[in-house]
Amino acid sequence: MVIEQGGIAAVVAEAREKLAACRDEPELERWHTEFLGRKAGKLNALTRSVGTLPPDQRRAAGIAANAANRELEQAYEARAENFRRARLETSIAEGKLDVTLPGRRPQIGRLHPVTQTLRDLLAALTDLGFQVAEGPEIETDYYNFEMLRIPQDHPARDMWDTLWLDPLTEGRRPLLLRTHTSPNQIRVMEQRQPPIRIAVPGKCYRFEAVDASHEWQLTQIEGLAVDEGITLADLKGTLGELARRMFGSERQVMLRHAYFPFVEPGVEMAVDCFVCGGTGCGLCKGTGWIEILGAGMVHPEVLSGVGYDPVRYTGFAWGLGVERVAMLRYGIDDIRHFYGNDLRFLEQF
Ligand code: DAH
Repeated sequence: MVIEQGGIAAVVAEAREKLAACRDEPELERWHTEFLGRKAGKLNALTRSVGTLPPDQRRAAGIAANAANRELEQAYEARAENFRRARLETSIAEGKLDVTLPGRRPQIGRLHPVTQTLRDLLAALTDLGFQVAEGPEIETDYYNFEMLRIPQDHPARDMWDTLWLDPLTEGRRPLLLRTHTSPNQIRVMEQRQPPIRIAVPGKCYRFEAVDASHEWQLTQIEGLAVDEGITLADLKGTLGELARRMFGSERQVMLRHAYFPFVEPGVEMAVDCFVCGGTGCGLCKGTGWIEILGAGMVHPEVLSGVGYDPVRYTGFAWGLGVERVAMLRYGIDDIRHFYGNDLRFLEQF
Protein backbone atom coordinates (compact mmCIF):
# COMPACT_ATOMS: atom_id res chain seq x y z
CA MET A 1 0.00 0.00 0.00
CA VAL A 2 1.31 3.38 -0.86
CA ILE A 3 0.50 6.51 1.05
CA GLU A 4 -1.57 9.08 -0.76
CA GLN A 5 -3.64 12.09 0.00
CA GLY A 6 -6.27 11.10 2.59
CA GLY A 7 -4.99 7.52 2.69
CA ILE A 8 -4.42 7.52 6.43
CA ALA A 9 -7.82 9.00 7.16
CA ALA A 10 -9.44 6.33 4.99
CA VAL A 11 -7.67 3.48 6.83
CA VAL A 12 -8.58 4.96 10.20
CA ALA A 13 -12.19 5.26 9.16
CA GLU A 14 -12.30 1.66 7.98
CA ALA A 15 -10.59 0.51 11.18
CA ARG A 16 -13.08 2.34 13.39
CA GLU A 17 -15.98 0.82 11.57
CA LYS A 18 -14.63 -2.72 11.77
CA LEU A 19 -13.64 -2.30 15.42
CA ALA A 20 -17.19 -1.38 16.30
CA ALA A 21 -18.33 -4.56 14.56
CA CYS A 22 -16.02 -6.93 16.55
CA ARG A 23 -18.21 -9.29 18.57
CA ASP A 24 -15.66 -11.20 20.63
CA GLU A 25 -12.00 -11.41 21.60
CA PRO A 26 -10.86 -13.59 18.68
CA GLU A 27 -12.41 -11.12 16.24
CA LEU A 28 -10.70 -8.28 18.08
CA GLU A 29 -7.34 -10.04 17.74
CA ARG A 30 -7.90 -10.52 14.00
CA TRP A 31 -8.74 -6.82 13.74
CA HIS A 32 -5.50 -5.94 15.53
CA THR A 33 -3.50 -8.00 13.07
CA GLU A 34 -5.27 -6.47 10.08
CA PHE A 35 -4.66 -2.85 11.02
CA LEU A 36 -1.91 -2.71 13.61
CA GLY A 37 0.02 -5.90 12.83
CA ARG A 38 3.75 -5.29 12.78
CA LYS A 39 4.38 -7.01 9.45
CA ALA A 40 1.20 -6.88 7.36
CA GLY A 41 -0.90 -4.35 9.25
CA LYS A 42 -2.48 -1.75 6.97
CA LEU A 43 -1.43 1.22 9.05
CA ASN A 44 2.14 0.04 9.28
CA ALA A 45 2.34 -0.37 5.52
CA LEU A 46 1.27 3.21 5.15
CA THR A 47 3.73 4.45 7.72
CA ARG A 48 6.56 2.63 5.98
CA SER A 49 5.76 4.34 2.70
CA VAL A 50 6.01 7.86 4.13
CA GLY A 51 9.56 7.96 2.73
CA THR A 52 8.23 7.75 -0.86
CA LEU A 53 6.41 11.10 -0.58
CA PRO A 54 7.93 14.36 -1.84
CA PRO A 55 10.16 15.75 0.95
CA ASP A 56 7.86 18.63 1.85
CA GLN A 57 4.96 16.28 2.61
CA ARG A 58 6.82 13.70 4.66
CA ARG A 59 6.77 15.47 8.03
CA ALA A 60 3.03 16.06 8.08
CA ALA A 61 2.31 12.52 6.85
CA GLY A 62 4.62 11.03 9.51
CA ILE A 63 2.87 12.95 12.26
CA ALA A 64 -0.54 11.90 10.95
CA ALA A 65 0.53 8.24 10.76
CA ASN A 66 1.80 8.28 14.36
CA ALA A 67 -1.35 9.93 15.61
CA ALA A 68 -3.48 7.37 13.78
CA ASN A 69 -1.45 4.55 15.28
CA ARG A 70 -1.85 5.91 18.81
CA GLU A 71 -5.56 6.41 18.35
CA LEU A 72 -6.18 2.90 17.06
CA GLU A 73 -4.03 1.29 19.78
CA GLN A 74 -6.01 3.12 22.43
CA ALA A 75 -9.30 2.16 20.87
CA TYR A 76 -8.12 -1.45 20.75
CA GLU A 77 -7.06 -1.42 24.43
CA ALA A 78 -10.40 0.02 25.49
CA ARG A 79 -12.28 -2.61 23.56
CA ALA A 80 -10.10 -5.42 24.93
CA GLU A 81 -10.68 -4.20 28.48
CA ASN A 82 -14.44 -4.22 27.83
CA PHE A 83 -14.32 -7.81 26.67
CA ARG A 84 -12.26 -8.84 29.71
CA ARG A 85 -14.65 -7.17 32.11
CA ALA A 86 -17.66 -8.66 30.37
CA ARG A 87 -16.09 -12.11 30.60
CA LEU A 88 -15.51 -11.72 34.34
CA GLU A 89 -19.01 -10.41 34.91
CA THR A 90 -20.61 -13.29 33.05
CA SER A 91 -18.63 -15.87 34.95
CA ILE A 92 -19.52 -14.24 38.27
CA ALA A 93 -23.16 -14.02 37.23
CA GLU A 94 -23.17 -17.66 36.19
CA GLY A 95 -21.58 -18.56 39.50
CA LYS A 96 -18.58 -20.30 37.90
CA LEU A 97 -16.13 -18.35 39.98
CA ASP A 98 -16.68 -18.91 43.67
CA VAL A 99 -13.97 -16.86 45.31
CA THR A 100 -14.81 -18.39 48.69
CA LEU A 101 -13.65 -21.86 47.63
CA PRO A 102 -10.37 -22.97 49.23
CA GLY A 103 -7.45 -23.13 46.81
CA ARG A 104 -6.24 -26.43 45.41
CA ARG A 105 -3.27 -27.73 47.31
CA PRO A 106 -0.54 -28.80 44.90
CA GLN A 107 0.40 -32.48 45.21
CA ILE A 108 3.92 -32.67 46.51
CA GLY A 109 5.89 -35.90 46.24
CA ARG A 110 7.57 -37.20 49.35
CA LEU A 111 9.88 -39.95 50.42
CA HIS A 112 8.53 -43.29 51.61
CA PRO A 113 8.82 -43.61 55.41
CA VAL A 114 11.24 -46.52 55.01
CA THR A 115 13.43 -44.40 52.72
CA GLN A 116 13.36 -41.52 55.19
CA THR A 117 14.33 -43.84 58.04
CA LEU A 118 17.03 -45.49 55.94
CA ARG A 119 18.55 -42.11 55.09
CA ASP A 120 18.48 -40.97 58.71
CA LEU A 121 20.14 -44.19 59.83
CA LEU A 122 22.86 -43.89 57.19
CA ALA A 123 23.42 -40.23 58.09
CA ALA A 124 23.88 -41.22 61.76
CA LEU A 125 26.23 -44.06 60.77
CA THR A 126 28.38 -41.89 58.52
CA ASP A 127 28.61 -39.46 61.45
CA LEU A 128 29.95 -42.34 63.49
CA GLY A 129 32.63 -43.03 60.89
CA PHE A 130 31.02 -45.72 58.72
CA GLN A 131 31.29 -45.75 54.94
CA VAL A 132 28.30 -46.81 52.87
CA ALA A 133 28.66 -49.65 50.34
CA GLU A 134 26.24 -51.80 48.35
CA GLY A 135 25.98 -55.37 47.16
CA PRO A 136 23.80 -57.50 44.85
CA GLU A 137 20.26 -58.60 45.67
CA ILE A 138 20.77 -61.83 43.75
CA GLU A 139 23.37 -63.71 45.75
CA THR A 140 25.11 -67.03 45.68
CA ASP A 141 24.70 -69.68 48.30
CA TYR A 142 28.42 -69.21 48.89
CA TYR A 143 28.19 -65.62 50.12
CA ASN A 144 24.72 -65.74 51.63
CA PHE A 145 25.39 -68.90 53.66
CA GLU A 146 28.61 -70.85 53.29
CA MET A 147 31.13 -68.12 54.03
CA LEU A 148 29.00 -67.16 57.03
CA ARG A 149 29.43 -70.63 58.57
CA ILE A 150 26.04 -71.88 57.45
CA PRO A 151 26.93 -74.93 55.32
CA GLN A 152 24.36 -76.91 53.38
CA ASP A 153 22.29 -79.13 55.67
CA HIS A 154 23.21 -77.06 58.71
CA PRO A 155 20.11 -76.62 60.88
CA ALA A 156 20.79 -72.88 61.07
CA ARG A 157 19.59 -72.61 57.47
CA ASP A 158 16.11 -72.88 58.91
CA MET A 159 16.59 -69.37 60.32
CA TRP A 160 16.28 -67.94 56.83
CA ASP A 161 13.48 -69.22 54.63
CA THR A 162 15.03 -68.79 51.26
CA LEU A 163 13.70 -67.85 47.85
CA TRP A 164 15.90 -69.93 45.55
CA LEU A 165 16.48 -69.01 41.94
CA ASP A 166 18.32 -72.28 41.22
CA PRO A 167 18.00 -75.79 42.56
CA LEU A 168 20.61 -76.71 45.16
CA THR A 169 22.90 -79.10 43.32
CA GLU A 170 26.24 -80.56 44.27
CA GLY A 171 29.29 -78.68 43.10
CA ARG A 172 27.50 -75.48 42.02
CA ARG A 173 26.93 -72.14 43.63
CA PRO A 174 23.18 -71.79 43.26
CA LEU A 175 21.58 -68.36 43.07
CA LEU A 176 19.06 -67.05 45.56
CA LEU A 177 17.50 -63.77 46.62
CA ARG A 178 19.65 -62.67 49.52
CA THR A 179 17.93 -63.38 52.82
CA HIS A 180 20.02 -60.79 54.66
CA THR A 181 22.70 -58.18 53.95
CA SER A 182 25.34 -60.23 55.79
CA PRO A 183 26.96 -61.62 52.59
CA ASN A 184 28.34 -58.12 52.13
CA GLN A 185 30.56 -58.62 55.16
CA ILE A 186 32.40 -61.22 53.11
CA ARG A 187 32.32 -59.21 49.88
CA VAL A 188 33.81 -56.16 51.63
CA MET A 189 36.48 -58.10 53.53
CA GLU A 190 37.57 -59.92 50.36
CA GLN A 191 38.24 -56.54 48.76
CA ARG A 192 39.86 -54.64 51.60
CA GLN A 193 42.20 -54.87 54.53
CA PRO A 194 41.40 -53.63 58.06
CA PRO A 195 40.64 -51.14 59.46
CA ILE A 196 37.07 -51.50 58.13
CA ARG A 197 33.98 -49.57 59.11
CA ILE A 198 31.24 -50.16 56.63
CA ALA A 199 27.42 -49.93 56.42
CA VAL A 200 25.57 -51.76 53.65
CA PRO A 201 21.88 -50.98 53.10
CA GLY A 202 19.68 -53.13 50.90
CA LYS A 203 16.52 -55.10 50.28
CA CYS A 204 16.32 -58.71 51.43
CA TYR A 205 13.78 -61.41 50.66
CA ARG A 206 12.34 -64.31 52.60
CA PHE A 207 9.98 -67.11 51.80
CA GLU A 208 8.03 -66.28 54.89
CA ALA A 209 4.50 -66.20 56.26
CA VAL A 210 3.56 -62.54 56.44
CA ASP A 211 2.23 -61.05 59.70
CA ALA A 212 2.19 -57.72 61.58
CA SER A 213 5.95 -57.78 62.12
CA HIS A 214 7.20 -59.94 59.19
CA GLU A 215 7.22 -59.19 55.48
CA TRP A 216 8.61 -61.29 52.65
CA GLN A 217 10.59 -58.24 51.54
CA LEU A 218 12.54 -56.22 54.07
CA THR A 219 15.24 -53.59 54.21
CA GLN A 220 18.36 -54.13 56.27
CA ILE A 221 21.50 -52.23 57.06
CA GLU A 222 24.51 -54.43 57.63
CA GLY A 223 27.31 -52.97 59.71
CA LEU A 224 30.86 -54.20 60.02
CA ALA A 225 33.84 -52.89 61.94
CA VAL A 226 37.13 -54.81 61.88
CA ASP A 227 40.34 -53.56 63.43
CA GLU A 228 42.92 -54.42 66.06
CA GLY A 229 41.49 -54.35 69.57
CA ILE A 230 37.77 -54.10 68.82
CA THR A 231 35.66 -55.46 71.68
CA LEU A 232 32.03 -56.09 72.58
CA ALA A 233 32.10 -52.73 74.38
CA ASP A 234 32.61 -51.01 70.99
CA LEU A 235 29.58 -52.86 69.61
CA LYS A 236 27.50 -51.79 72.60
CA GLY A 237 28.67 -48.19 72.42
CA THR A 238 28.09 -47.87 68.68
CA LEU A 239 24.65 -49.49 68.57
CA GLY A 240 23.55 -47.72 71.77
CA GLU A 241 24.48 -44.39 70.20
CA LEU A 242 22.65 -45.29 67.00
CA ALA A 243 19.51 -46.17 68.97
CA ARG A 244 19.75 -42.96 70.99
CA ARG A 245 19.93 -40.92 67.79
CA MET A 246 16.97 -42.69 66.26
CA PHE A 247 14.65 -42.91 69.25
CA GLY A 248 15.90 -40.32 71.73
CA SER A 249 17.06 -41.26 75.22
CA GLU A 250 13.59 -41.93 76.69
CA ARG A 251 13.21 -45.24 74.84
CA GLN A 252 14.38 -48.38 76.61
CA VAL A 253 16.93 -50.39 74.68
CA MET A 254 17.93 -53.93 75.59
CA LEU A 255 20.82 -56.10 74.43
CA ARG A 256 20.48 -59.82 75.01
CA HIS A 257 22.17 -62.99 73.92
CA ALA A 258 21.18 -64.53 70.57
CA TYR A 259 22.60 -67.14 68.24
CA PHE A 260 23.89 -66.42 64.75
CA PRO A 261 26.43 -68.80 63.20
CA PHE A 262 28.73 -66.01 61.97
CA VAL A 263 29.27 -64.29 65.32
CA GLU A 264 30.53 -65.30 68.75
CA PRO A 265 29.10 -64.09 71.03
CA GLY A 266 25.88 -63.11 69.30
CA VAL A 267 23.37 -60.59 70.59
CA GLU A 268 20.16 -58.92 69.56
CA MET A 269 18.93 -55.47 70.34
CA ALA A 270 15.32 -54.75 71.19
CA VAL A 271 13.39 -51.57 71.96
CA ASP A 272 10.41 -51.42 74.32
CA CYS A 273 7.14 -51.87 72.43
CA PHE A 274 5.46 -48.56 71.60
CA VAL A 275 2.01 -50.13 71.38
CA CYS A 276 1.79 -51.70 74.85
CA GLY A 277 4.63 -49.84 76.58
CA GLY A 278 6.25 -53.14 77.54
CA THR A 279 3.32 -55.04 79.03
CA GLY A 280 2.93 -57.33 76.01
CA CYS A 281 0.63 -57.20 72.96
CA GLY A 282 0.07 -58.71 69.53
CA LEU A 283 2.77 -56.67 67.84
CA CYS A 284 5.54 -57.63 70.27
CA LYS A 285 4.04 -61.13 70.66
CA GLY A 286 3.52 -60.61 74.36
CA THR A 287 7.19 -59.93 75.11
CA GLY A 288 7.06 -56.16 75.54
CA TRP A 289 10.08 -55.78 73.23
CA ILE A 290 10.53 -55.26 69.51
CA GLU A 291 13.72 -56.69 68.12
CA ILE A 292 15.44 -54.33 65.67
CA LEU A 293 18.79 -55.94 64.99
CA GLY A 294 21.02 -58.95 65.36
CA ALA A 295 24.71 -58.41 66.06
CA GLY A 296 27.82 -59.92 67.54
CA MET A 297 31.57 -60.27 67.44
CA VAL A 298 32.61 -61.55 64.02
CA HIS A 299 33.42 -65.26 64.33
CA PRO A 300 37.18 -65.94 64.05
CA GLU A 301 36.48 -68.51 61.33
CA VAL A 302 34.69 -65.87 59.25
CA LEU A 303 37.77 -63.67 59.56
CA SER A 304 40.18 -66.47 58.66
CA GLY A 305 37.86 -67.48 55.80
CA VAL A 306 38.64 -64.21 54.03
CA GLY A 307 42.34 -64.44 54.88
CA TYR A 308 42.46 -62.15 57.92
CA ASP A 309 44.52 -63.11 60.95
CA PRO A 310 41.91 -63.64 63.70
CA VAL A 311 44.56 -63.33 66.41
CA ARG A 312 45.47 -59.86 65.28
CA TYR A 313 42.03 -58.62 64.22
CA THR A 314 38.62 -58.65 65.85
CA GLY A 315 35.42 -57.07 64.73
CA PHE A 316 31.75 -56.59 65.36
CA ALA A 317 28.84 -56.75 62.95
CA TRP A 318 25.13 -56.14 62.95
CA GLY A 319 22.14 -56.51 60.68
CA LEU A 320 19.36 -54.01 61.37
CA GLY A 321 15.73 -54.12 60.20
CA VAL A 322 14.87 -50.70 58.77
CA GLU A 323 11.09 -51.31 58.69
CA ARG A 324 11.15 -52.19 62.38
CA VAL A 325 12.93 -48.92 63.16
CA ALA A 326 10.43 -46.97 61.03
CA MET A 327 7.54 -48.67 62.90
CA LEU A 328 8.99 -47.61 66.24
CA ARG A 329 9.67 -44.07 65.09
CA TYR A 330 6.28 -43.40 63.56
CA GLY A 331 4.13 -45.68 65.72
CA ILE A 332 3.12 -47.99 62.86
CA ASP A 333 1.63 -51.18 64.26
CA ASP A 334 1.68 -53.35 61.13
CA ILE A 335 4.67 -53.83 58.81
CA ARG A 336 2.32 -54.73 55.92
CA HIS A 337 1.30 -51.07 55.58
CA PHE A 338 4.69 -50.18 54.11
CA TYR A 339 4.27 -52.08 50.86
CA GLY A 340 0.47 -52.03 50.65
CA ASN A 341 0.64 -48.89 48.47
CA ASP A 342 -2.34 -47.31 50.16
CA LEU A 343 -1.99 -43.57 49.55
CA ARG A 344 -4.00 -42.77 52.68
CA PHE A 345 -1.19 -44.37 54.65
CA LEU A 346 1.71 -43.02 52.59
CA GLU A 347 0.49 -39.42 52.53
CA GLN A 348 0.87 -39.16 56.29
CA PHE A 349 4.66 -39.01 56.08
N1 DAH B 1 21.79 -61.41 59.15
C1 DAH B 1 21.01 -61.60 60.37
C2 DAH B 1 19.54 -61.77 60.00
O1 DAH B 1 19.12 -61.27 58.99
C3 DAH B 1 21.18 -60.44 61.29
C4 DAH B 1 22.56 -60.36 61.84
C5 DAH B 1 22.87 -60.96 63.02
C6 DAH B 1 23.54 -59.67 61.18
C7 DAH B 1 24.12 -60.86 63.57
C8 DAH B 1 24.82 -59.57 61.69
C9 DAH B 1 25.09 -60.18 62.90
O2 DAH B 1 25.79 -58.90 61.09
O3 DAH B 1 26.34 -60.05 63.44
O4 DAH B 1 18.83 -62.39 60.72
